Amino acid sequence: MKILVTGGTGFIGSHTVVELQNRGYQVVIVDNLSNSDAKIVDSIEKITGTRPTLEVFDLVDRDKTADFFKRHNDLKGIIHFAAFKAVGESVQFPLKYYRNNLDSLVNILEAMKENNIPNFVFSSSCTVYGQPEELPVSENAPIQKAESPYGNTKQISEEIITDTVKVTDIHAIALRYFNPIGAHESALIGELPIGVPNNLVPFITQTAIGLRQQLSVFGEDYHTHDGTAVRDYIHVVDLAKAHVVAIDRMVNHKMKKPLEIFNLGTGIGYSVLDVINAFEKVSGLKLNYKIVARREGDIEKVWANPDFSNRELGWKAERNLEEMVNSAWKWEQTFRGKTIKPE
Ligand code: UD1
Repeated sequence: MKILVTGGTGFIGSHTVVELQNRGYQVVIVDNLSNSDAKIVDSIEKITGTRPTLEVFDLVDRDKTADFFKRHNDLKGIIHFAAFKAVGESVQFPLKYYRNNLDSLVNILEAMKENNIPNFVFSSSCTVYGQPEELPVSENAPIQKAESPYGNTKQISEEIITDTVKVTDIHAIALRYFNPIGAHESALIGELPIGVPNNLVPFITQTAIGLRQQLSVFGEDYHTHDGTAVRDYIHVVDLAKAHVVAIDRMVNHKMKKPLEIFNLGTGIGYSVLDVINAFEKVSGLKLNYKIVARREGDIEKVWANPDFSNRELGWKAERNLEEMVNSAWKWEQTFRGKTIKPE
């Protein structure tokens, strides 16, 4: 069965392609390589023994998207990762985010309708919950006004999908990710931010390898156990496996309604200092960091209630925080061709 993975050379996309191929699905990737490298396909082939097809074009281009779907009208499902995701950048360039994240979605849904392709998995985010009143946050928690254009594109996308499944044969699963980190155990694929990383774990590993001087910890006056902000970090391989479960569920007609929404998190909240401590423990290194002011737009704390996903999907995140940071660290060193030993 052939599955399209948009954004399949990116961080979560590449790990998902590996898991799909391991499960026997045939994968076609579409990616514009705006934040990734075509060489990732070599690494995926090394890990799985199978080379996914890669077509490089921009899904914002309606004609190219329509043409692609005409040539691949035997697709059984689509997992749509391709999107911009930098919160700060989206505040500066909102139109870039709306154009990219929304046009591509509409183009894909139109082409699915046109070609009778039934199954769509969407990369959503816990950002739709904002700062939830109740923790852990479950899927039926109220959606809060988005803090950024990026977050707004995820909310609007969910609305576009909600409206579309009502009047077409398209079935959709929206997966709301918490904070994906870590890397494949082979260390052949991982997170590769272009430029200065915005996210915590790549910043930690780049500081430890010597690419960045110092990590800034944003805020220590939050109402949390140590004053730093709390998130639900989830290993990218656990996250990738949930996508395969979602596709299995769709192709085996196990869905209970045309749009299902699932949280993908571990259910455990860790603070920024917890992540740093875990990193120092697995690496044996002292990380150079300092506490600075809060980052604008950051929420205080969020972690998932994963009960519904665990029960309905029969899926559970299995890897703990140390495994997450250890795999990220192994990937950083492998990628840079450098080993940093404790003194
Ligand atoms: C946010 C969004 C998430 C989105 C992601 C994309 C929320 C709750 N989450 O994740 O939906 O997909 O951006 O990039 O809106 N930190 C530091 N120093 C750093 C970097 C981060 O202290 O140099 C702290 C942050 O303040 C935060 C935590 O580390 O408390 C995690 O930050 P990050 O990895 O950027 O992810 P989120 O902002 O949680």
